[in-house]
Amino acid sequence: MVRIMQIKDGVAKLTLVLLFVVGLLQVANAATQSNKSKKQQAVPTQKTALPTPEIPARTPSGSPIASIRATARASALAAAKAQADAEAAAQEQVQANIAIPFNRTMRLLQTYNLPPTQDGIHDPANEGINMLHVPLEAYADLPRNQAGNRVNWVAALGEKKIIPRWDIADAQAEGLVMDMNIIRTPRGSIPNVVFPHKQHTEWLACSNCHPAIFVPQKGANQINMRLILSGEKCGVCHGKVAFPPSECRLCHSQKKELSKNEMDVP
Ligand code: HEC
Ligand code: HEC
Ligand code: HEC
Repeated sequence: MVRIMQIKDGVAKLTLVLLFVVGLLQVANAATQSNKSKKQQAVPTQKTALPTPEIPARTPSGSPIASIRATARASALAAAKAQADAEAAAQEQVQANIAIPFNRTMRLLQTYNLPPTQDGIHDPANEGINMLHVPLEAYADLPRNQAGNRVNWVAALGEKKIIPRWDIADAQAEGLVMDMNIIRTPRGSIPNVVFPHKQHTEWLACSNCHPAIFVPQKGANQINMRLILSGEKCGVCHGKVAFPPSECRLCHSQKKELSKNEMDVP
């Protein structure tokens, strides 16, 4: 026990010494940086230039000791800078690693449709878990697609392979299905977005979207891919309970019409 404490103590001391050295290096680097930035204000992009050149110029000529000292100092500073650059690069890598999961809707899951005991959603300790369908078995006869949980749910509903209840309490209740397409025309060459009310209102009551997610008026809502990928607008559902944003063509399904000018060209 005592020995472990001693080792721990030793490790702590070592860490402190290391931290101190790193701190010194950073101070040295900060000094060079501020020197540099005074000189290079007009050229702020020269991050990688080494801070050596001006130093020999300042030493009194004809003094070999001073010149050796200057060279030593310059190489120490250069080493400190290289170290700091390496640390900055490592820090950037850490940041990049943190950033990726933000885009999780774009990532195709390596494992999907796991049994309820392994899916990380249900409590494996709960006995009721054994009453749940195992997705791979339950989905076996349903039409397939490429993304999400690999089921084409629109086709499954269309082919009456599934008949979801509209109301949990009333088996006879029927929803209001509305067949109205809204066409959104993003700028550029990307095909237009056709939003089909029919495919949505077969599952969803109007109040799922209106007015909290979309004001019910064509063109009144600002929608773009940044919002969708961050889980807003269409991204409230797509990527979570409906096909993910990676399936561009399902939404961008209408070819752009050529403008009048383009058609007039002989
Ligand atoms: C899945 C989401 C969703 C559901 C559910 C939904 N809508 Fe919409 N609705 C939209 C979107 C998106 C728009 C287009 C908004 C835009 O262009 O800015 C829209 C537009 C509208 C418009 C405007 C049409 C126009 O020409 O200006 C009306 C009216 C409307 N919806 C009525 C309904 C009704 C009634 C229901 C239920 C039967 C319903 N919506 C269900 C998403 C939905
Ligand atoms: C409230 C949830 C919800 C919102 C918000 C929503 N959708 Fe959907 N969407 C669904 C569901 C559920 C389906 C059917 C299941 C599936 O296809 O994965 C669907 C299906 C679709 C389909 C039909 C695809 C096919 O195979 O025919 C299109 C196209 C579509 N959505 C586009 C959009 C667009 C564009 C928006 C935003 C303007 C949007 N959706 C917003 C839930 C939503
Ligand atoms: C769930 C439906 C949906 C999917 C899937 C989808 N988009 Fe979009 N996209 C939209 C909507 C809605 C807009 C906004 C259209 C507008 O300007 O009214 C949009 C806009 C855009 C724009 C115009 C710039 C912007 O951000 O507004 C580009 C480019 C674009 N999408 C590319 C893509 C690409 C590439 C994919 C596939 C990786 C994709 N989209 C998948 C619905 C979708």
